[in-house]
Amino acid sequence: MKSWKKLLLGLAGVFALTALAACSSSTNTLDKVKDKGTLTVALNPHFAPFEFKTIQDGKDTIVGADIEIAKAIADELGVKVKFSEMSFDNVLASVQSGKADIAISGISATKERQKIFDFSDSYYESETVLVVKKDATETYKQTSDFAKKSVAVQKGSIQENIAKANLSDANVVSLAQPGEAINELKSGQVEGVVLEKAIAQGYVDQNSDLAMSDIALKSDSNDAYAVAMPKGSDELKAKVNKVIAKLKKEGKIDSYVQDAYALSLKSSSK
Ligand code: ARG
Repeated sequence: MKSWKKLLLGLAGVFALTALAACSSSTNTLDKVKDKGTLTVALNPHFAPFEFKTIQDGKDTIVGADIEIAKAIADELGVKVKFSEMSFDNVLASVQSGKADIAISGISATKERQKIFDFSDSYYESETVLVVKKDATETYKQTSDFAKKSVAVQKGSIQENIAKANLSDANVVSLAQPGEAINELKSGQVEGVVLEKAIAQGYVDQNSDLAMSDIALKSDSNDAYAVAMPKGSDELKAKVNKVIAKLKKEGKIDSYVQDAYALSLKSSSK
């Protein structure tokens, strides 16, 4: 081949590569994930039965209903799944910065969050409750009984706002993990913990000194759980919604939650 032809071919190659690179820098979340071959999921695995750690085959493993959903999404995309563990108040930020592709962490798709993120269709209806000491259920009968008392919540969760709005005269303490909040309650540092019912149930079942209060807490936000994605993830969102619709139709989400709940009661680490 003549050398000028080689040069032309070479130039064409460089052109093609630059065009490819230019394309991929502007690709959507779906293409980004497919190119990498891995779906990185941000979560805070201290939230049984949705995500928590347990020992499986001698190894610390993250399990739960959200984990099954993440795996089903990765399967649909034909990629591997990687779980990126962090405190809950960093979960959404890591999707925003692009460190994680999506977040599945019992995240309530509130209106404020919808301004910053794309959310899938919801997959679980949540409800917020107050956990108290069993012997204090008679002392705390209404929200005003918490005046000048302390209640703990998970930092970055919607329960921070729910607690402040419903228990306006209480001192709301934000802690990194729900487990810490429960420990503070058990040791008498706080008088209540504001937590979602499915999670509270696990603590109440495992701690005979705790109970769920009858006090109803109002929430004005959209509390149902959904998968969070960066804004503009239309293609990925369509795939995620397809998976969620299928899992819901087959009754899988409920069975994931039930199975994970049973496992969480058995497992020592939460
Ligand atoms: N649903 C609440 C929220 O979105 C709490 C979620 C906490 N999740 C967790 N994995 N710790 O704010």
